[in-house]
Amino acid sequence: MCFRSYVEALRRDNDLVEINDEIDPYLEAGVIIRKVCETDNKPPLFNNLKGADKGLFRILGAPNSLRADPKTCFGRLARHLALPPTATLKQILDKMDSAAHAKPIPPNIITDPKEALCQKNILHEGEFDLTKLPVPLLHQADGGKYIQTYGMHVITSPDGSWTNWSIARAIVHDKNYLTGLVIKPQHVWQSLAGYIEAFTGNAIDVVKCISNDLYVPANAEIILEGTMSITETDPEGPFGEMHGYVYPGDTQNWPVYTVNKITYRDDAILPVSNCGRLTDETQTMIGPLAAAEIRQICKDAGLPVKEAMSPYETQVTWVVLQIDTVELAKMKTNSADFSKKIGDLILNQKAGFTIHRLVLVGGDIDIYDWNDVIWAFCTRVRPGMDEYLYEDVPGFPLIPYMSHGNGPPARGGKIVSDAPMPEEYKTGIPEWQAADFKNSYPQELQDKVNAN
Ligand SMILES: Cc1cc2nc3c(=O)[nH]c(=O)nc-3n(C[C@H](O)[C@H](O)[C@H](O)COP(=O)(O)O)c2cc1C
Repeated sequence: MCFRSYVEALRRDNDLVEINDEIDPYLEAGVIIRKVCETDNKPPLFNNLKGADKGLFRILGAPNSLRADPKTCFGRLARHLALPPTATLKQILDKMDSAAHAKPIPPNIITDPKEALCQKNILHEGEFDLTKLPVPLLHQADGGKYIQTYGMHVITSPDGSWTNWSIARAIVHDKNYLTGLVIKPQHVWQSLAGYIEAFTGNAIDVVKCISNDLYVPANAEIILEGTMSITETDPEGPFGEMHGYVYPGDTQNWPVYTVNKITYRDDAILPVSNCGRLTDETQTMIGPLAAAEIRQICKDAGLPVKEAMSPYETQVTWVVLQIDTVELAKMKTNSADFSKKIGDLILNQKAGFTIHRLVLVGGDIDIYDWNDVIWAFCTRVRPGMDEYLYEDVPGFPLIPYMSHGNGPPARGGKIVSDAPMPEEYKTGIPEWQAADFKNSYPQELQDKVNAN
């Protein structure tokens, strides 16, 4: 329940590289983090950032990208959810879903500020200048320095009835201003209008901010207290984004955040996600979370969906759904009706916002194995006939073919691709044998070959 303990857990797992040489937050930290992400290497903890002062701050890069060892490759994601580092993606998705249905555990409010590590050090208005902090410039074409790439925005609706915690990026604009992405339908956008998930089974310690009534994690590394404007905007971007592109000069206006106080732990660590091409936190977290939620929504609607996964190879633009074809056959439905049922359910709601292709596959496909998924997609989905286009649903404007493509940037461009074959719809059972080692030879012959 504490970021610093997470860093210690990485150290114990031998999954941390401490860098004590001086590193420049101007591109140098960024290029190291990027190389780490692209090679599944260990997260760098930059202990000696150029420009760091009075304990503000160190940086942990690649906090939730992949490990190289196949047995623990999702170890960091697992450690986020209090699972053992050998957890499989299926176990991780199951945990996400089980927490969503578990009884929420109320937070533990720390009343003595002396016990709140995040308030150990306090900088009041006039005592800090955000532009002087060692905030990283992550890609050379970025529009500026991003202080928020992995931090939570804790935001309440104007009437105070609803508080949301979510990750969204924010760029340093001035000595006490930030601007950040606030896009529809995200809750941070809706709050211009909870609960703490019971992932770990423990109450989280929270403390009231000094200058407002919001509660924040008491052992957080750094808290920027302030307000988000509902009227004032400023340019934000460009930023090297989750699909692996940065468009030089691409800026848009987004709400201004004013910072009026900074509180922080001793030797604070800023977690930094340097997103781009595979694999970083935007893929390891956004894809599986979307898949887990979509699977649950399908199950709640009584649809025969067994598993869901967003393959990293699709830059998390797809979710693959494994269909229980025996149950499917009982529905006495067909490709068009069933695909439309799933598409109508998912592609119109927030859980499906970032996902542009739903691929339905039968039970013989291991949806966590990209070789299986792409085999089914290429051989069972007849282009055109087995695909159901959606042009009148919310689209994800960050994908290049949306924002810089031929159609409207935030509408449509989605599709359901249906791989179960007509016979599976009829009987639930495939009529073929896979022409592979496992399925085209008697077991004893396979065993003999393996033994020899
Ligand atoms: C590393 C990382 C960076 C993210 N950056 C953004 C962002 O800049 N803007 C955004 O809208 N969502 C971003 N997301 C996705 C949101 O955190 C996610 O959609 C979340 O569900 C939003 O919270 P909400 O569901 O309460 O609206 C990011 C996620 C991760 C893991």
